[in-house]
Amino acid sequence: MKKAELLMIPGPTPLPEAVRAVMSSPAMGHRSAEFKDVLKRVFPSLQRVFRSKNQVFLYTASGTGSMEAAMCNTLNAGDKILVLVNGVFSQRWSEIAKTLGLNVETLDVPAGEGHTPAMLKEYLEANQVTEYKAILLTHSETSTGVLNPVRELTAVIRQTHPDALVIADTITSLGAAEFALDEWDIDIAVSGSQKGFMLPPGLSFLALSDRAWQAHQSCKHPGYYFNFTRYQKSQLENTTPYTPATHLILGLDAALALMLEEGLENVVKRHAQNQAMTRAGLKAMGLELFVKNDQYASPSVTSFLPPEGLTVDAIRAGLKKRFAIIIADGQKELKGKIMRIGHLGHVSERDVLTTLSALEAVLNELGYAVPAGAGIAAATKASREAVASHA
Ligand SMILES: Cc1ncc(COP(=O)(O)O)c(C=O)c1O
Repeated sequence: MKKAELLMIPGPTPLPEAVRAVMSSPAMGHRSAEFKDVLKRVFPSLQRVFRSKNQVFLYTASGTGSMEAAMCNTLNAGDKILVLVNGVFSQRWSEIAKTLGLNVETLDVPAGEGHTPAMLKEYLEANQVTEYKAILLTHSETSTGVLNPVRELTAVIRQTHPDALVIADTITSLGAAEFALDEWDIDIAVSGSQKGFMLPPGLSFLALSDRAWQAHQSCKHPGYYFNFTRYQKSQLENTTPYTPATHLILGLDAALALMLEEGLENVVKRHAQNQAMTRAGLKAMGLELFVKNDQYASPSVTSFLPPEGLTVDAIRAGLKKRFAIIIADGQKELKGKIMRIGHLGHVSERDVLTTLSALEAVLNELGYAVPAGAGIAAATKASREAVASHA
């Protein structure tokens, strides 16, 4: 019997039935009145998810497209920027910046750790006279499973560098962790469809502050495809400047309805619960978590090390072959060193329990003895505690 796959990776994430169903609709004209009605619902819902009073731009591009859009629309070649790096995706900010001719400085912390407000404060105080045009952060660093405290880090930035643009990658945090663009005084946040939005890849979103819009006004080469001005004008008329991915947007309409119906606070609570269960379950099986500090653990992905004598490949292959459960490998230097369980988007408590019990079976078969049910007992206890703490 061919089993349906359980996709427990940090994106692409599982698709809810309502999203899949609407994406199989017949073709529709992207300038039709019917499609405008869809966009008319989607745009304000995106503002609610980013918690921003301003327009949120909708790009037909993967998340990286919005990352590039954030910089090419607001910064000029030669501008000094600071990038907080602690993994593959935060590193991507500086890679894109270099291709745009920006003057990049990085503040690095080891993979598996987060940037603390105290460390950033000390660094910025020592560099008080440096005129950073932008400081770039990554909320959930998917490659390691770290959640950087973007709200607190932004507050620290405002003390010494109030005019710097704060640009945040919220690609695997939006729809998983608490986030509020306006209230937290963040200038740009970008996200992607195949993550907390429960869609296939292909759309990305960019929210911005008035400060970022002003920076755009003095940007010399904002580019063509991602140009904010073009999106601003079109979106006011409930359309897009170029042909959008119509069916992904139909799916987005359905996904946003699901998120808002569940309630954004409840979505965040569900992710916190799944995260607590995963961490507790893995620990109870004697496995070592890669992110040691619970306070810095991402609610969308949990990374852990293979036990002594077993390989990442063998464990992942066992889960796939025996149970059709897919978990992610590490990336780049962490490939083969850590595994990552995604609990992002359309993932339930049942999916987490299924994954933990399958992992227990695979580990036992590979010769690493786990007491029967140890992970499940710890995970269900963590689940009850999470529910009680949210009550
Ligand atoms: C935190 C983060 N930033 C950026 C990206 C890149 O997004 P995309 O692959 O959609 O371009 C990802 C993708 O996994 C990510 O997790």
